Order: sequence, then structure tokens, then C-alpha cells
Amino acid sequence: TQKYFPHVNGKMFAENVALSNIAKQVGTPFYCYSNTAISQNFKDYQQAFSTALTNQETLICYAVKANGNQAVLSTLAKLGSGADVVSMGEIRRARAAGIPANKIVYSGVAKVEPEIEYALNEGIFQFNIESEPELELISQVATRLNKIAAIAFRINPDVCANTHAKISTGKAENKFGVPISKARQAYNRAASLPNIKVQGVDVHIGSQLTQLTPFEEAYKRIAQLVIDLRSDGHDINVVDIGGGLGITYNDEVIPAKEDYAAIAKKQLGHLNCKIVVEPGRSLLGNAGILVSSVVYVKTGEERQFLILDVGMNDLIRPSMYDAFHEIIAVDISKTALKTYDIVGPVCETGDTFAKGRQVHESQSGDLIAIMSCGAYGAVMASTYNTRMLAPEIMVKDTDFAIVRPRPNYDEVINADIVPSWV
Ligand code: LLP
Repeated sequence: TQKYFPHVNGKMFAENVALSNIAKQVGTPFYCYSNTAISQNFKDYQQAFSTALTNQETLICYAVKANGNQAVLSTLAKLGSGADVVSMGEIRRARAAGIPANKIVYSGVAKVEPEIEYALNEGIFQFNIESEPELELISQVATRLNKIAAIAFRINPDVCANTHAKISTGKAENKFGVPISKARQAYNRAASLPNIKVQGVDVHIGSQLTQLTPFEEAYKRIAQLVIDLRSDGHDINVVDIGGGLGITYNDEVIPAKEDYAAIAKKQLGHLNCKIVVEPGRSLLGNAGILVSSVVYVKTGEERQFLILDVGMNDLIRPSMYDAFHEIIAVDISKTALKTYDIVGPVCETGDTFAKGRQVHESQSGDLIAIMSCGAYGAVMASTYNTRMLAPEIMVKDTDFAIVRPRPNYDEVINADIVPSWV
């Protein structure tokens, strides 16, 4: 996972920039993304899908939720990426970065009227509809605007994704999508409504999948549904196969993108549909890290604590999902490994990144890198404890740029308004 963040002579780099250099100029903590890694990951997807599905159109719609920084989106836009979005904000982000509206698919269980209106006016490629009431509203708004909404239903195939319960989405008990048993009825309703163009089927069963079997099971059910829908008279020519593969955080063995594409080909290739895929984590996750400084080394009764200047407000994944992130000293040239509990500054016990973890012996001021933070890192950060959001840095070869600066205290505090009657 460290290909783009190597140690050279014991010092960690992002591509060809020493992390200590960035830290000197921007301070810590900061997120750091490798532009080359992002581009390479995207090209690998493009290559895998266009090779497996030679006779079909394929479209990679990057899941903006994983990391919506404009520098990231612009990088992907230039490579031909589309976008999977879940809000008006994400549509705006994608458009601002130059992603064409006709490459945008719009998912989400609670699209509200202004969002639907905005998406219709932009002319997005497809609404992935998650319920019948949403369908009715989209038809009404489209009719009022005199636009046609191209739609797919997100189908809940009731398969187990074998991932963390909080990010598993394709079981009958989850809030997502239309149950596969009710799908034909939903499509018939859609076909009867004005200003709706039925064009596709969508499925997404969860995130951080490390096996292909759940994808295969879901696609098999979707393929049968497409056949049934066509026999019902619907013109289905798009299958959106949802998010991408998981990534290696620790020791997970992830199937190759080629094998993922081969599953899509095997289960869906005969349908001759345009295949849309919505990867997020697998494009960004291992293309980014979070760099912090040790504030104190504290000796407790039973353990040594490495107390960092980065907290759960900056990276929520360990406290929220018990997620494992590799933690590595930026300078490993001088010391041996030592066992620490690695914690942040926030006023909660959950503000813990790792327990009993081996890291090179460190002292106050040393830099520590938390790995695999490019996806679902900065985007899930908050200002809890009135901590400033960590800035985001992008590196390409020997260049680096601040792609989102650290806010200052005045900006943050002055955003509040005190009414005259207080
Ligand atoms: N498409 C849809 C409809 C989704 O809901 C998601 C992720 C994706 C695509 C992208 O999936 P990916 O390729 O990244 O696996 N915050 C959690 C992850 C939540 C994922 C939600 N949906 C985490 O930090 O693990």
C-alpha cells in the first residue's frame, strides 16, 4: 500500500516530496494525496473494464463522497471520469470540476425537490431511484420543468456483502433501494408516468468488499431482472453495478480489478447494456495519508501513549467502524519499534487510532503518518472541539500544492451569528 509513499533512506516521501518538507511549510496535521496514484488507479479501472467488456460501452462514475476535493475531481475529470453523486452539493462539485452532466448518476434515498430540479436542469445521465414516492416526485418535477428524467431503480437484491454492518447496503433489512421482488411493479409504474424515461437498473450492495462472490450473486439476480423487465416491454440499456472493490488497510487480499470486470462481463455481458461502475474507495483510499505530529509521549500505568495532534474529528473511521489504519513513523532511520496506544487530542476515549501498535520509537515533534486515508477521510471530518479542519495537500512527482488550506479561527468563529436579543 506504500508504493506512492515510500521511505527513502529512512525518511518517508509522497512521490518525490519529503513529507518533512510539507510539514515544515503547512504545519500538521494535513492530508496528503498522490496525484499519480489517483490517476493510475483510475486508468487501471478504465483498462480493466474496457478490456473485459470490449463490445460494450463502459463508464466509470467516481463516487464523489469518497473525496470531493476539486483537485481530485479535476484530475479524474481530465481522465474521462463521470461522477456518482448523492446530493446537490456533490452535483455542484462535480460540475465545477468539469465533469459533464451527461456522465453523472445520482443516487440517494432522500433526494429533495430543489435537488431534483437542479439535476434535471443540469441534464444528468441518470437518476438512481430508491423508492416509489421518489419516482412520483421526480415525474412531477420533470413535468413542471418540461424535462425528461432518465431513470433506473436501485434494486436491493438481498445479498450479504460480508463487510462492516454500517456500510452494508444490499440486505432486505437495509433502507436502500427497491426490493427485487417489487421491481417489476415499480418499473411498470415508472413507464406509466409522464416525463420519465426508463433506461436502466442499478445495484450497490456495500463498501469495502474483499470478495467477488457477493458482487457475482447480486449481478446474477440483476441480469435475470433485466430479462424480465425487457419481456415486460421496458427498454433497459444501462446496468449500474455500484461501488468498487475494497482496499488493503492491513492484510486484506483484494481481488484484481480485471477479475471484478470479468465478473461483470460473465454475469451481465450478454445483455448488451452500457455498464456503469461507481468506485470511490479503491480510487482514493491508498492514494492518501494523514500526517500528524507527536504532541506528547505519555507513560501510563500499563501503557505508553503516543498522543498526536490529529483526532477523531479529522479521521472518524477508527472510532466509527473500528477501522484499522496502518500507522508509520515518517522517519524510521534512527529508532527501533516500540508498542504504543495511539490517540488524539479530543475529549473522548473513542479518540483512539490504535491500541498496542508497534511504531518506531518517537518523541514529541516527530511526524507520524496514518495510512489509507484518501477516501472517507477529509470528507468525514468535523470541527468538533473547535479544531480547524486539516488542510489537504496534493503531490505530483516533485511538486506539491495546498488544495484546501487550513481555515483560520476568525473564519470559523465569525460564522456564528449572535441575535440582538441575546
Ligand atoms: N455507490 C453508492 C450508491 C454508494 O453508496 C457508495 C458508497 C459507492 C458507490 C462507493 O463505494 P466504494 O467504491 O467507495 O466502496 N464511510 C464509509 C464508507 C461508506 C460508503 C457508502 N457508499 C467508510 O469510511 O468506510
